[in-house]
Amino acid sequence: MTTREKVAFYPGDGIGAEVTAKVILVLEAMRDHGGEAHLEWEILDWGVDYHDSHGQVVPDGFLDILKSFDAVFLGAVGFPARLPDHITLRPLIEIRQAFDLYACVRPARTFPGVPKPLAGNHEVDMVVVRENSEGEYVDNGGRFRRGTPEEFAIQSAIHSRRGIERILRFGFDLARTRRKRLTMITKSNAQKYGFVLWDEVLDGIKGEYPEVTTDRQHIDAAAMNFVRRPESFDVVVASNLFGDILSDLSGGITGSLGLNPSANLNPERKFPSLFEPVHGSAPDIAGQGLANPTGALLSAAMMLDWLGYAKDASALNQAIEGALAAGESTFDAGGSLSTDEATAAIIRRLVSLLAG
Ligand code: NAI
Ligand code: MG
Repeated sequence: MTTREKVAFYPGDGIGAEVTAKVILVLEAMRDHGGEAHLEWEILDWGVDYHDSHGQVVPDGFLDILKSFDAVFLGAVGFPARLPDHITLRPLIEIRQAFDLYACVRPARTFPGVPKPLAGNHEVDMVVVRENSEGEYVDNGGRFRRGTPEEFAIQSAIHSRRGIERILRFGFDLARTRRKRLTMITKSNAQKYGFVLWDEVLDGIKGEYPEVTTDRQHIDAAAMNFVRRPESFDVVVASNLFGDILSDLSGGITGSLGLNPSANLNPERKFPSLFEPVHGSAPDIAGQGLANPTGALLSAAMMLDWLGYAKDASALNQAIEGALAAGESTFDAGGSLSTDEATAAIIRRLVSLLAG
């Protein structure tokens, strides 16, 4: 009997729900046309609407609910006009921390067929590896003297030796399978505790990876270099906040944020890993059939790969690349198709790849 992995779909808000629906269509097409993965799934109605009816974004015990799945797929959460973001996004940050999804892997590349946004037509092929469990996003701080002119807030980051070392080692292992170049991003010239520790940890372990060239850049210089010479980056390892910022930037320089996938991994597989496009819920285009499904579908390919279905993942990647190369894409990526049409174009290619 074949095992059927169980996936929890948390479509979320805005275009999050729209692109997740397309992932489900693609998985169904794959299952019905010779793909190896026969996943089972459950769709969770959490998010802003759920908050309207239940007074909270997710149910009590949501982490226990998710724990019973083999993987979680998230569309995107947030709709600031209806609910403040720090409320809607909190459960996502809790999932990442509680499930120790410390490696957030965000590949960004230019695709044939998608106009390159930078003058100079730079080819980009990098992976931003974001530390996802601590750093600047720990819930650590407070608001003081509230409501007075002397009000202040403290928001402290936590950078642990263990946390830094494991994300750097993850980055080194990945670099070994790619162009063997690792760039660590910090701001150790201005933050002499946390980021100097990053520098020391890097110096302590880089000798174990002699085939990988290491480089370190401060976040400000790195932001400029992403625009000036993006082709020079291979694996980029950064803290939670810097990795978050750089991964949006990496989307901006490849064509569209709508193209970028991500995997939030617990490499030890003690918890389900979470897969999601890099983009958010894009309220500005929600409900109009304009959302690019590519980032979500590439995230689904990462999920298939993680669950052991490398062949399905590769077919899906190929179908997406083929559609983009033929200009069968949404407006943000230079095409003129709707979300439905762009997905149909990918499914057509996928089905013929699986049949061949
Ligand atoms: P966003 O990523 O939703 O959108 C930024 C820009 O990119 C917008 O102009 C949008 O139209 C465009 N865009 C994004 N995805 C696209 C796609 N698939 N196809 C075509 N265009 C696309 O970021 P924004 O506007 O800052 O945030 C909107 C909401 O999403 C907020 O509530 C925010 O907190 C939330 N958010 C949630 C994330 C998550 O669930 N992981 C990640 C980032 C933001
Ligand atoms: Mg982000």
